[in-house]
Amino acid sequence: MVSKLVLLSREESLAKIQGESLDMYDAMAAKDIRISITSSCDMEDLQDSDIVVITAGVPRKTGMSRMEIAVPNARIVAEYSSLIAEYSPNSIILVVSNPVDVMTYVALKASGFDKNKVFGLGNHLDSLRLRNMLAKHFNIHVSEIHTRVIGEHGDHMVPLVSSTSIGGILLKNYALGGTIDIEGMVKKVINAGSYVINKKGSTEFGPAYAIANIISTVLKDEKRILTVSAYLDGEIEDIKDVCLGVPVKLGINGIERIIPIKMNDNETKALLNAAKVVKKKTEEVMKNL
Ligand code: 2OP
Repeated sequence: MVSKLVLLSREESLAKIQGESLDMYDAMAAKDIRISITSSCDMEDLQDSDIVVITAGVPRKTGMSRMEIAVPNARIVAEYSSLIAEYSPNSIILVVSNPVDVMTYVALKASGFDKNKVFGLGNHLDSLRLRNMLAKHFNIHVSEIHTRVIGEHGDHMVPLVSSTSIGGILLKNYALGGTIDIEGMVKKVINAGSYVINKKGSTEFGPAYAIANIISTVLKDEKRILTVSAYLDGEIEDIKDVCLGVPVKLGINGIERIIPIKMNDNETKALLNAAKVVKKKTEEVMKNL
């Protein structure tokens, strides 16, 4: 699926990505995958990429929220997005840098790309985390859990409990008799990133495999419905001019369709609030660019 991977960084991080690329090579041998992995700090090596993943930015430290690194990261993401537009004008941009909903908006504006070609990792990772928690709670294989988190990849994420199903059976019918502390699970999903950062300094495997899901869906044109941070123009609850985690149909051309979802009143209220919070931070950041 991926024949050529180029790791790009500033000069001061070149040693790190040289080590990462060799380490990745070893892993690829174990999976019998033939791939070229190179590391560079020459932006010209962006040339003609199919997908560019932006992870650049200052990482949040223990106790920090993702929103606290918005202003410095916006400048970095804007700079790289315009370079991507210069060297890979036909690529798709997947934003990972946090706060990812705000950074997706910055990348969209700075690259000048079409809104279906720029989206963020965001709630796909949160949805995987909630899936895991439900699978553990019910002692069920994770593939049987269909759930989704939308909204902000942060404190204002919204679990779509009303459409969560287990083995195709709606949660409200499945969990008969048993009690399920959804609020408690959502709190754990909100804090999952911080928990891992506190323990080991940064999250790696979770985001990495979530990114791989998205790249595979795009490159193989799989038409999956994944939850990514996407630019909204009224498709859901008439929310406009902000990037939020929503379900989209994803394929070789990026976002093919934003799926208009039916939510219950609580979910709708929470999503509108998330939109307000993210939009406010986005406006602040765009003013400081
Ligand atoms: C996380 O939650 C990186 O924000 C990402 O792990």
